[in-house]
Amino acid sequence: MNKASSAPVFGAFLVMLLTACQPAEEAAAPAVEPGPDPHSYANYEQVRVEHLALALAADFSERTLEGHVTLQLDRTESAERLVLDTWKLDIRDVNRVGPDGALEPLSWRLPDADEGDAQAREYLGTPLVVALEGGVDQVRIDYATSPEAFGLQWLDGQQTTSGEPFLFSQSQPIFARSWVPLQDTPAVRYTFDAQLTVPGDLMAVMGAAGNPTEIRPDGIYEFRMPQPIPSYLMAIGVGKLEFEATGPRSGVYAEPSLVAAAAEEFSELEAMIDVGEELYGPYRWDRYDLLILPPSFPFGGMENPRLSFITPTVIAGDKSLTALIAHELAHSWSGNLVTNAAWQDLWLNEGFTTYFESRIVEALYSPERAEMEATLDWMGLKEELEELDPAAQILARDLSDQDPEQAFNGVPYNKGRLFLVWLEDRFGRATFDEFLRQYFDHFAFESIDTEDFIAYLEANLLPRDPDAVSMEQVREWIFEPGMPDYAVLPASDAFDKVDEWRRQWLDGEVELAEIPVDQWTVSEWRHFLLKLGDRLDAEQMAAMDEAFGLTESGNVEILYLWLVRAIEARYEPGIERLEQFLLEVGRNKFTRPLYEELADTDWGREWAIDVYQRAKPGYHPLTRQAAERALGIASRENSG
Ligand code: BES
Ligand code: ZN
Repeated sequence: MNKASSAPVFGAFLVMLLTACQPAEEAAAPAVEPGPDPHSYANYEQVRVEHLALALAADFSERTLEGHVTLQLDRTESAERLVLDTWKLDIRDVNRVGPDGALEPLSWRLPDADEGDAQAREYLGTPLVVALEGGVDQVRIDYATSPEAFGLQWLDGQQTTSGEPFLFSQSQPIFARSWVPLQDTPAVRYTFDAQLTVPGDLMAVMGAAGNPTEIRPDGIYEFRMPQPIPSYLMAIGVGKLEFEATGPRSGVYAEPSLVAAAAEEFSELEAMIDVGEELYGPYRWDRYDLLILPPSFPFGGMENPRLSFITPTVIAGDKSLTALIAHELAHSWSGNLVTNAAWQDLWLNEGFTTYFESRIVEALYSPERAEMEATLDWMGLKEELEELDPAAQILARDLSDQDPEQAFNGVPYNKGRLFLVWLEDRFGRATFDEFLRQYFDHFAFESIDTEDFIAYLEANLLPRDPDAVSMEQVREWIFEPGMPDYAVLPASDAFDKVDEWRRQWLDGEVELAEIPVDQWTVSEWRHFLLKLGDRLDAEQMAAMDEAFGLTESGNVEILYLWLVRAIEARYEPGIERLEQFLLEVGRNKFTRPLYEELADTDWGREWAIDVYQRAKPGYHPLTRQAAERALGIASRENSG
């Protein structure tokens, strides 16, 4: 609520008075509230960024990006100001760019954090308010990022395998604003071009066209993005990179020591794109490459357009963890092409993608592999649902007063997927696939909300078989907590066999050596380790380690579950491996629960804090935040 509306007459008078005295002073305007998207200050109903041009230089010693961005605006006549999102940006200059390219200063302000109720929503950052007097169509902002920018991680040469520095961005959900002042909402799409200047021995890549295959000695790289994207897909990477093709329109970028292993691990990339196209229509982004990041990357993968960012921990040597690549590729349709308009619609991105991922795995590998992975996901979701508040169990969940990161739990992913599995079951695969293909076509390059989807479903799928599902059921899936009792749930016979071996071993009926683990997939291993529960003692752990060499496992999914068991049993060799792991890997899916497990023990918290302090300089800001929460220690600004 701004002041003018709480005291209408006086407020209006005050605004008039101030406007009359200081026509160019945006500083007189009322407090800024978020726009239609609760996670952005952008007033995009009045003015929209259509295209942006970036010119940035990377300074590794200062850990800043510095330069300018020019925003091309599409505005309504009534638009008086442009409100952008920023997070700790050092804004140096804001100018109008005239038709002849001349710069003219514009009035602008960054309201103090204690204005309005901005303080309560620190995660939103600070709005940048620019007055648009006299028909402004292009705005240039000169700025620099903060060394603490949440959306960037700067690594020095000691933290990479090449010995050279590395920089990468992670913009989803609302961190683009920490490296570009823009309308940081998925409701707005824009095209862009960019010029990056980096040290001469490094390569720059972006989620865009124009990625190089060789390092340029002058350090200047140019990119353009002809397809309109939302801000959370803005992506940049800088490092000592090499490229290896995996097909005519695909390949991998990685540091030299990893590029061959990555190209081998992901040799099926081109085939995956083909499978995606056969399922749901043309791949619309021309190329699909992967950027393999250092192990501190806080996620498994991030679907940056044309260039997914991937953790090196999925390079297992046997292509067993490639479902993650299928997932990021699938986002090229669900997410990047048809985009959630706000974070409360996240399930439109992640639920559809998890479904699509599973269809790729089924087609490329086998229905059994897809079913095992789906069963593990469902078991994980079931456990999560027991813990989550009812409100957090809702697919289209109201997030207006929350950090949008809260949205990323198993619900949008796996409940979302099961909703689509249920629709597939009711309408038949052929009909449902045809519907999905149409859906991607119809909404291509648009941002849509849950109601848009529901209306499209009601008009285009339900009439295909009027008795198959009811709108009440659809609404129950989307707006009610828990799982509908008519859900179609996955189950895997292979897991029944694993369960039987586990029982026989625990009951002393068989020796570990008799269990046919050589034939097990990662999913069977995961199921085995998950169901072992937390009651193993260090002696049983040692026996398992001797039989299967789990402490030395090169498969991160197996190793992670083993390390959890090692904490519970306080199994020393496992704890030593855990220390190494935490010092190297910053992937939150693993580090956060490992720190949580440690904090839960009577011996582990102090030990974990010590490991954390040593690991922290190499961790991404997001990994630090999660670890500090897990360990119950206050975060310290500017350290590390
Ligand atoms: N879009 C997400 C990555 C992400 C998650 C960004 C949360 C910001 C907040 C990506 O597509 C994803 O879901 N990655 C998963 C892997 C996937 C196989 C479930 C991950 O990183 O673990
Ligand atoms: Zn995803």
